[in-house]
Amino acid sequence: MGDHPLPDVLTTVFQAIWLMAPAYVANMGAVVVGGGAPIDGGRRWRDGRDILGPGKTWRGLLLAPLLACLVAALGWWADPRTAWAVIVPFGPWPEALAYAYAMGFGALVGDSAKSFFKRRRGVARGEMWLGPDQLDFVFGGLLFAWLAGWALYGPAWFPDTYTLPILLVVVVLTPGLHLAVNVIGYKLKLKKVPY
Ligand code: CTP
Ligand code: MG
Repeated sequence: MGDHPLPDVLTTVFQAIWLMAPAYVANMGAVVVGGGAPIDGGRRWRDGRDILGPGKTWRGLLLAPLLACLVAALGWWADPRTAWAVIVPFGPWPEALAYAYAMGFGALVGDSAKSFFKRRRGVARGEMWLGPDQLDFVFGGLLFAWLAGWALYGPAWFPDTYTLPILLVVVVLTPGLHLAVNVIGYKLKLKKVPY
């Protein structure tokens, strides 16, 4: 493959998407399984605005990461000898399930942290805050993935798996992927806004 840079780049791109899939799926899943009681209980911050807002719910925070566990299960089902070799397990059973839940949960913690600062800046719930809205779940997911990977597999596992090229691809690619998925969610009437 060394003589052909394109396939190598594509491999890195697909690998990056797969390695972020627990965070992506949890973040998308919150739109579907979320709703109900808000995390902030409807309380206001001292600036008089919502602490997080009604878009951040307990169901989204706690249930959506379960969908990330399905991603981990897919990792065992995939055959490593095929072209789908980028689909690798996130570690052995049942640790990979804990890993995927942690990464998905981290994605939504990042999303909630973003909403806290969004409200402080006076950006209304559902309005776009360009930049943080597209990357909050990436940084939250990666932070929790790093911690969970360390706890489950030791300190070397995360930096060996999420290499610098992978992380670069993730940061460059995710905002576009996020927008594309939201446009689809809007067309399917799952989302009120296409971003
Ligand atoms: N959602 C949820 N619980 C979460 C995160 C998301 O229930 N912890 C659901 C909500 O229905 C939310 C939708 O997913 O409206 C879209 O999520 P997001 O775009 O992150 O929230 P916004 O409504 O845009 O709110 P904010 O402005 O605070 O980002
Ligand atoms: Mg939004």
